[in-house]
Amino acid sequence: MSGADWLERWRQGRIGFHRQAPHPALEGFWDRLGVRAGAKVLVPLCGKSQDMHWLVEHGNPVLGIELSPLAIEQFIAEEPCLAGKRRAALRYRQSGFECTRLGRVELWCGDFFHFQVEQAAELAAFYDRAALIALPPATRQRYAHHLGQLLLPGTRGLLVTLTHDDPDRGPPFSVTHAEVETLMAPNFELVLCDVATAADGLAESVWQLTRRGPARSRDEHP
Ligand SMILES: C[S@@+](CC[C@H](N)C(=O)[O-])C[C@H]1O[C@@H](n2cnc3c(N)ncnc32)[C@H](O)[C@@H]1O
Repeated sequence: MSGADWLERWRQGRIGFHRQAPHPALEGFWDRLGVRAGAKVLVPLCGKSQDMHWLVEHGNPVLGIELSPLAIEQFIAEEPCLAGKRRAALRYRQSGFECTRLGRVELWCGDFFHFQVEQAAELAAFYDRAALIALPPATRQRYAHHLGQLLLPGTRGLLVTLTHDDPDRGPPFSVTHAEVETLMAPNFELVLCDVATAADGLAESVWQLTRRGPARSRDEHP
């Protein structure tokens, strides 16, 4: 599925992946990561996920990256009102991305693969739900490598993956545990936290990942 296909999907409202409520993996496993309060969380391929509100309410600002401007506009329009009031979104342009700040959520509109390490300053954690599994096999390899290059050693995150019975069908693509390990193990230590199987044969897995390598500061990042 190409970028143009995703834009078209958003245009047609074919967004069955979107959840109205935060994903249970956050409630169940985020605190285990030990991410300090105030640390910024990278959310690649973020859509208009409600998980970003959960992270902010949990004390962590968010930097989400999303290809579709419609997704970002819908996230803003659907923000829960505070005391009946909508907050103003601040717009700016940075490094080729159209950016929007809404409270403690920054949304960068553009291609995740164009997001560079120099722009990744201050990222202290990440959260991937339906990002890796949104991508076809060759792009998954590229995604895993790119994520590894963006994050400093010691950076932790949650990864939520899915398996189903047809390896050729997707998105969401079925990504086996063996594939997650092959893709991620070169750059991350992995712990499988949970596997939840649904009646339709879908199984959702939650992984804790820690970027490998000796602790370094952002200035020493390659
Ligand atoms: C399956 S959806 C998941 C969205 C979100 N993580 C969630 O849980 O609802 C995948 C999203 O990735 C976006 N996307 C696909 N390729 C992308 C890319 N190269 N860069 C940024 N976003 C991309 C799509 O527009 C779509 O919103």
